[in-house]
Amino acid sequence: MQLSLSSTPIAEADSPCIVIAAAEGGALSHSAQEIDRASDGRLSHLLESRDVNTSMGKTTMLHGLPGIAAERLMVIGVGKQEKLSAARWDRACLAAGQALRDHPLTECHVFAHDLEIDGVEPNWRLRQLALALQRANYLYTSTKRRKDDAPVPLKAATFHDGPGAEQAIEESRGMAKGFLKARHLGDLPPNICNPAYLAQEAKAIAAAYDKVELEVLEAADMAELGMDALLGVARGSANNPKLIVLKYSGAKPDGQPVVMVGKGVTFDTGGISLKPPPNMDEMKMDMCGAAGVMGAFVACAELGLALNVVCIVPAVENMPDGNAYRPGDVLTSMSGKTIEIRNTDAEGRLILCDALTYAARFKPRYLIDAATLTGACVVALGHHASGLMSNDDTLAQRLLDAGEKSMDRAWRLPIWEEYLEQLETPFADIKNVGGMPAGVITAGVFLSRFAKDQAWAHLDVAGSAWKWGETEGATGRPTGLLTQFLIDLAR
Ligand code: BES
Ligand code: MN
Ligand code: ZN
Repeated sequence: MQLSLSSTPIAEADSPCIVIAAAEGGALSHSAQEIDRASDGRLSHLLESRDVNTSMGKTTMLHGLPGIAAERLMVIGVGKQEKLSAARWDRACLAAGQALRDHPLTECHVFAHDLEIDGVEPNWRLRQLALALQRANYLYTSTKRRKDDAPVPLKAATFHDGPGAEQAIEESRGMAKGFLKARHLGDLPPNICNPAYLAQEAKAIAAAYDKVELEVLEAADMAELGMDALLGVARGSANNPKLIVLKYSGAKPDGQPVVMVGKGVTFDTGGISLKPPPNMDEMKMDMCGAAGVMGAFVACAELGLALNVVCIVPAVENMPDGNAYRPGDVLTSMSGKTIEIRNTDAEGRLILCDALTYAARFKPRYLIDAATLTGACVVALGHHASGLMSNDDTLAQRLLDAGEKSMDRAWRLPIWEEYLEQLETPFADIKNVGGMPAGVITAGVFLSRFAKDQAWAHLDVAGSAWKWGETEGATGRPTGLLTQFLIDLAR
């Protein structure tokens, strides 16, 4: 999508559609006042008569208003003035993006970010709106023959200019690129998006940016490194595992990198501890942690952030087979720690523990993993927050703040050592499941054992990375949170 800035006054903007926002029972925004003046009070009349719906997330399209150059005016409803908040603004933006997407429009000129919200920066309002429009442009067509009834995507959006607007637009562009990449990877079917495909995708990313290098470790390389936990999970699949390592050098070579690790289980059958058939298809989303870190990596490279970043994706498929690993097996991880397998469906932590051990060689400033790790996280936090666990309060706070700022929010859970008891076994140093109580936390505690000497954080994105129901599909999260974190760190 073409993004541009303009200082043309709203009444003179000669566009197929101009866009403003209005709150219920609030003062008119500056641009709404201008429209009202130019149209001789028509807008306030329509607002009073409630023909323009200002409820949260509702949009109204008006045609041929007198006195203004544009063909159409779209009004984004943001709900009650007194309830306005950053979160509600963001929701209204996403709804507006969808509404514009559903109209046969290819261009618009946006003024809506001039609606004041207490405690919310104008350029943040702009960034989230620009981001929402770009995110709404996503349409999955890769495996559909019939594409003709697709709604019309926006080709160009112009935003009303102001101090700092350029940076806001630029950030939205980088973030959107990352989001769309992550969402696309998440939506692809598992017969296409397998470990080799993710490696191929990483190759394309490395080719697209000068400062990016790629290394892909094959099964033999991993065996040499002693990654038997990761290889154990991969053993039941005909698709060979890959350990993808993308490096971005945006700062001095000696600058300690941020290392992001993403769970890349391209399909999770559960293995020998086979999952029940209903909805098993959804387990193609089990690489959304990988997609999220790759998305943030792309955003970072796109924005040219002054940071060093390493993105590590252990990519495997978890299948049952004559050669598959079993419950009862004891595997030796790269760290040397032995792990008793009690359930082959708790595979994410097994590939991640070896990837976390591997990450140590980059001497990370911060080590962050993202994973669709547990159903228990979905039970605990639902679909709105990612579960955050960390051994470092500064890092945890940075991530929580980045979540708020990107509206890709996380909620912290404790990983007290008391939980470790649940992972004890007579037969190995640790076992891979901790039973029913606090399943999201014991998974995080398991990982923490492999990142002991580092500032480390874990994001369980099982609930946030995928949307169930009518608009089923990948969300692209936690790309927003991670990108914001990197942006803030680079400043
Ligand atoms: N990929 C799943 C977690 C998951 C569940 C993600 C639902 C998204 C939606 C993970 O590998 C898994 O199977 N976890 C098990 C762990 C259990 C065996 C300890 C789970 O959550 O049931
Ligand atoms: Mn599983
Ligand atoms: Zn899984």
